[in-house]
Amino acid sequence: MTNRWPVAELRAALDALVPGFAVEVVAEIDSTNTELMRRARAGGAAPVLLVAERQTAGRGRLGRPWQSAADGGTAAPDESLTFSIGLPLAPQDWSGLSLAVGVSVAESLDPHGSQLRLKWPNDLWTVQDRKLGGILIETALPQAAAAQRYLVIGIGLNIGPRDAAGLGTAPAWLREFCPDAQAPQVLADIVPPLVRSVLGFGEHGFAAFAEGFAARDALRGRDVRLSDGTEGHCEGVGLAGELRVQTAAGLQLVSSAEVSVRPSGGVAS
Ligand code: BTN
Repeated sequence: MTNRWPVAELRAALDALVPGFAVEVVAEIDSTNTELMRRARAGGAAPVLLVAERQTAGRGRLGRPWQSAADGGTAAPDESLTFSIGLPLAPQDWSGLSLAVGVSVAESLDPHGSQLRLKWPNDLWTVQDRKLGGILIETALPQAAAAQRYLVIGIGLNIGPRDAAGLGTAPAWLREFCPDAQAPQVLADIVPPLVRSVLGFGEHGFAAFAEGFAARDALRGRDVRLSDGTEGHCEGVGLAGELRVQTAAGLQLVSSAEVSVRPSGGVAS
């Protein structure tokens, strides 16, 4: 099944952006993020797109597992899309990178902005507050004195129907609003613009993506509750990608990767 992926097309598109960009597809792996982080810690710093049809130990933010429809082995691998991109990057400021990645993916999947929202800091939600996908960003220093960190961006998307069992947030899937969506074509549609966006982030930081995020911000203007118990009213994100929450004690700026947030009275994040 791995030969159904548009490897040559993607290699050509990515090589034009970053010479030597490799494209690999595997039938099964523990986690595409884990694999690229392993390679980076062993000194590997090559630009690569790694796609897995199934992950046996997919990971999400805050140490949570990431499970795709295909991971149990019963559903067709085409019901989900799981991949990671690894490349060296040296932005002046890493703040807001997951938001910029979300903006790029959402704009590729939903150019008119009628279906997808972005839930700070790393979730793709539908307009009904259901989770279509997630983003997991990690970095490593390939060599002790390396000038650039190696960035690993992992993305998981539900393409076909996804069982809600065990999920804190009701799942959504792409075929609900793109009935013909197939994982290989979705990959070809989102990855080259995403790599362009990441290179743009490396040059200019989050500022260039702030407007795109604000247009899809799922929390702005809503009452929210943080995982530390703080409650307040979300005023959107600032220019460094921090969440702005007006609380009884004043404006709180949330940038910690350890904090999660959800709409009050809504679904869990
Ligand atoms: C989240 O929702 O917290 C982030 C989910 C990220 C899942 C993707 S699937 C491809 C890559 N490999 C992983 O183990 N995780 C990311």
